[in-house]
Amino acid sequence: MVDILLQRRIVIAITGGIAAYKCAELVRRLKDRGAEVRVVMTASACEFITPLTMQALSGEPVHTHLLDPRAEQGMGHIELARWAELVLVVPATAHTMARLAHGWADDLLGSLWLATTAIRAVAPAMNQQMWKAPAVQRNYANLLQDGVRVWGPTEGQQACGDVGPGRMMEPMDLVEQVAAHFQPKDMHGLHVLLTAGPTQEKLDPVRYLSNYSSGLMGYCVAKAFQERGAHVTLVSGPVSLPPPQGVTMVSVVSAAEMLEATLSRLNGIDVFVGSAAVADYRPRELAQHKIKKTEAELTLKLEKTEDILARVAEQPNKPFVVGFAAETQHVHAYALDKMKRKKLDMIACNDVSQPGIGFAAQHNAMHIFWKNGDCALPKAPKMDIARQLVGLIMKQWKGPSA
Ligand code: PMT
Repeated sequence: MVDILLQRRIVIAITGGIAAYKCAELVRRLKDRGAEVRVVMTASACEFITPLTMQALSGEPVHTHLLDPRAEQGMGHIELARWAELVLVVPATAHTMARLAHGWADDLLGSLWLATTAIRAVAPAMNQQMWKAPAVQRNYANLLQDGVRVWGPTEGQQACGDVGPGRMMEPMDLVEQVAAHFQPKDMHGLHVLLTAGPTQEKLDPVRYLSNYSSGLMGYCVAKAFQERGAHVTLVSGPVSLPPPQGVTMVSVVSAAEMLEATLSRLNGIDVFVGSAAVADYRPRELAQHKIKKTEAELTLKLEKTEDILARVAEQPNKPFVVGFAAETQHVHAYALDKMKRKKLDMIACNDVSQPGIGFAAQHNAMHIFWKNGDCALPKAPKMDIARQLVGLIMKQWKGPSA
């Protein structure tokens, strides 16, 4: 699959914040994905990271001055403004956000910002108290109103020792934001419901049965639909991932809660994707008090949970139903059997016995089956797999008239 970032023309405009050093990684990762990157640096950015470093990483001369004798007409900002498909200011300091919000054109960045018709984005980075300051929030609101994409900030430990909102998004997350921005927005009006993550089945007040699912695969599929414009609802078991932006989240704990949350939201859904690792069994009885270790052996009585996927697929006006299969042997045969038994339109199977993919891994490799067709998705980051899966679903889904 061709990378969505291949030959995309991106200006990275670096300003003077401590997070400027992260731009080296950002530019490198964008270049790895095939993007064409040109770097603009403000005077104070050059105090934090050298233009030479950025030139080496981008493979292009770095632009630092408004009037550029190397540019065709001596006006570097106009040339760059016309060339760019995206201008990303990173890290966007409080000072830079103020300048951009007020249209100051006293340097290369300010002039380029006003002269471009490209999409404009900022990745704020500043002390948490500064971020909360009313003046910064006013500038933030003005930028949003001007149609500027604001990516981040995230919360966490800051260079100054404070903890709170104001951290620049990590370079890899910014690369994903950029990639998401370039995805075609061809799924407006499509309603998607997904399950993700594990379920927890209570045994006593302090213990439960569960599995190793981190939720990442399902969250990536949700994001892949959302970035193409779909309306996405994600029913998630307990995970420690941040909710994907723009997705309606429903948090549940047990298989029974996941079933209820799913069935009650099926109305009007076009596509259902069951990526959750739902417990197949739950303890038959919930002990009221902590089970004491008085016996040498303990036998648990378990009962089957209801199969959420099968229940969705048996609904009279069922959506296009995509199941997952996590197998450790006879992967394709078991997946095909599941697709038939549960009356699915498509199944995505992964061999979870393979190291580095499947449960709690950053990567996955899948084989997708549908009626009269199949496709292998080789090992890749889960976000890439998710985007390919969503592409396949859209090809097979025939729409409401089918
Ligand atoms: O969450 P990650 O760490 O990123 O890992 C991703 C993953 C390995 C969990 C994911 O890729 C995956 O394989 N998810 C399905 C896991 C699973 O439970 O597979 P299964 O073969 O046991 O179940 C088959 C299908 O039935 C699944 O779509 C499952 O959601 C569904 N099911 C199962 C039991 C049940 N009671 N209700 C269900 O809906």
